[in-house]
Amino acid sequence: MTGKLQDTAHAMVAPGKGILAADESTSTIKKRLASIGVESTEEARRDYREMLFRSHDALSNYISGVILYDETLRQKAADGTPMVEIIASAGTIPGIKVDTGAKPLAGCPGEKVTEGLDGLRERCTQYYELGARFTKWRAVIAIGEGLPSRTCIHTNAHALARYAALAQEAGLVPIVEPEVLMDGPHTIERCFEVTEAVLNAVYDELYAQRVVLEGTLLKPNMVLSGTECPDRAGVEQVAEATVTCLKRTVPAAVAGVVFLSGGQSDEEATAHLSAMNALHDTPWPLSFSYGRALQAAALHGWGGKAENVASAQAAFAHRARMNSLAADGRWSA
Ligand code: 13P
Repeated sequence: MTGKLQDTAHAMVAPGKGILAADESTSTIKKRLASIGVESTEEARRDYREMLFRSHDALSNYISGVILYDETLRQKAADGTPMVEIIASAGTIPGIKVDTGAKPLAGCPGEKVTEGLDGLRERCTQYYELGARFTKWRAVIAIGEGLPSRTCIHTNAHALARYAALAQEAGLVPIVEPEVLMDGPHTIERCFEVTEAVLNAVYDELYAQRVVLEGTLLKPNMVLSGTECPDRAGVEQVAEATVTCLKRTVPAAVAGVVFLSGGQSDEEATAHLSAMNALHDTPWPLSFSYGRALQAAALHGWGGKAENVASAQAAFAHRARMNSLAADGRWSA
């Protein structure tokens, strides 16, 4: 089992490839569709995602895996082809978000814990049968006055590790995603300190829960200034801080690191990834697992209209290619 997990994990960070996160929950996709004036019906969600997944060349050249939401993993395209089949026919690996969302953490005002452990063993078995080969669980950590608390860091790290162990047991590669949010006026130094503490806690827990690191991927935030920080760090500083922070905390055995975009602009997310890879200074491949930074241009180009499918697919393919170059440290503005 371990050999298979490692093979999948390696394929997910093959040179020049990264992951498309298309696993927005029903409430998140509703907001995304509302931003282009489209009502979030099951058909609209299908049409939008089918447009992305039928970008065959973009998927086969630049996208190693697609993270799906439960509905999409079970969904069929307009012509009756299962969505999973469309993805797999491009040589891309289907994956599934298995957490059930971040809920308020009791006793810790302003903080959240990600839920979804109950029944997870059975769900993982079913997801494997439906064609998924990897999973994702996202924990969120906010930076603020007196935040994050040790309780929040520890509780989320523990849940991430329990999730990862169950996913591996079912033959699914766990993407471990502890996201330190970029909202707020904090400095890049504060983001570094919090990210370092969070990653240390996560790898402690993964060890305690006997997770095989070679069959995992880490999906971290980059080390950035907060969105409202008056003096935001530039691309080189972000690249150096992020690589330094990861090298201090992430064991070399981990199969790869695939960043989230977390609200960065499309170009920022690409520029930061490319600058990190240009340093050639990590034991693991550094690639992308972007949601918004891969989809925003395509979503707006599509606008819910069938006649815009081709141009929206071209916009998606462009971002995918730029991020592929960045995964190799070869992107330039
Ligand atoms: P963003 O790249 O939009 O942050 O989404 C990635 C993701 O999957 C968050 O869980």
